[in-house]
Amino acid sequence: MARKKEPSPYTKPFLKWAGGKFLQLPDILPLLEGHQRLIEPFAGGGSIFLNAGLKTALINDNCSDLINTYQQLKENAHDIITRAFRLFQLYNGQKPYLRIRQKFNEGRYTPAERAAVFIYLNRHCFNGLMRFNGKGEFNVGFGKYEAPYFPLAELENFLGCCEGITFSCEDYSTVIEQAGAGDVVFCDPPYEPMPDKEGFTQYSNGTIFKMADQERLVKCALEAHQRGATIIITNSGAESIRELYRANGFDIREVLVKRSMSSKAGTKTRAKDVIAVLESLIPF
Ligand SMILES: C[S@@+](CC[C@H](N)C(=O)[O-])C[C@H]1O[C@@H](n2cnc3c(N)ncnc32)[C@H](O)[C@@H]1O
Repeated sequence: MARKKEPSPYTKPFLKWAGGKFLQLPDILPLLEGHQRLIEPFAGGGSIFLNAGLKTALINDNCSDLINTYQQLKENAHDIITRAFRLFQLYNGQKPYLRIRQKFNEGRYTPAERAAVFIYLNRHCFNGLMRFNGKGEFNVGFGKYEAPYFPLAELENFLGCCEGITFSCEDYSTVIEQAGAGDVVFCDPPYEPMPDKEGFTQYSNGTIFKMADQERLVKCALEAHQRGATIIITNSGAESIRELYRANGFDIREVLVKRSMSSKAGTKTRAKDVIAVLESLIPF
């Protein structure tokens, strides 16, 4: 007899997001405990900040539509949720999807409409892949789902977590510069691809997250650590990444993960990721 799936004790994000950390929460959450503020420079779908349970948080991502959606929901939840629900009710088809995507790319929506459309695109596009080209245009095709799920419960849970959160849309360095004693900085950058493998390093503005960006991240993190923050960085187990963290004094832990989303629908692979930690030098 098939075993009944236990309900998850964690809050699920309302967006599907490549590289989401929902399945790794049991490994990550204990590392955040005891800090006063969470700083997340690469927030993505929000698995971490939704579940961290810290009173205050500085939540950042350089995907402007992602942060616009979070901010619009925080300020005007009822309006955004109603607009998004209407889009789900009326427009599950390739033609309307492409028309809405085109209007979105032409910048013809207000920030409130844009937030609702972003939720609609996320659940109607192929595999929830939020990929933009070099011109900043969202270019993922229609997902052909029979009845896309409207994440009402997840949106309500998000609203319940928003109070102590400040959202920003900057390069990661700008928010890490604000970290000091009492802060835990959780960094989940686009992963460095494993040798000979295609990674997903191109998120919102078509720019690719390169090894030089991984190195610049470590440099900012070390400076924040010197000011008293705890630093956690997740990444692939690529040897160049392990070497970078090892050389800079991080404690490296390995975690076996199932990749739950890739650019090929339905594919799941197992991989060894790393969690690199620099504990705060200052007791608080
Ligand atoms: C691996 S995802 C984070 C996933 C997230 N932890 C989750 O659970 O959904 C990496 C994120 O980094 C963002 N990003 C890429 N380059 C960035 C940069 N230079 N500064 C800030 N955010 C960046 C992307 O938009 C993407 O959302």
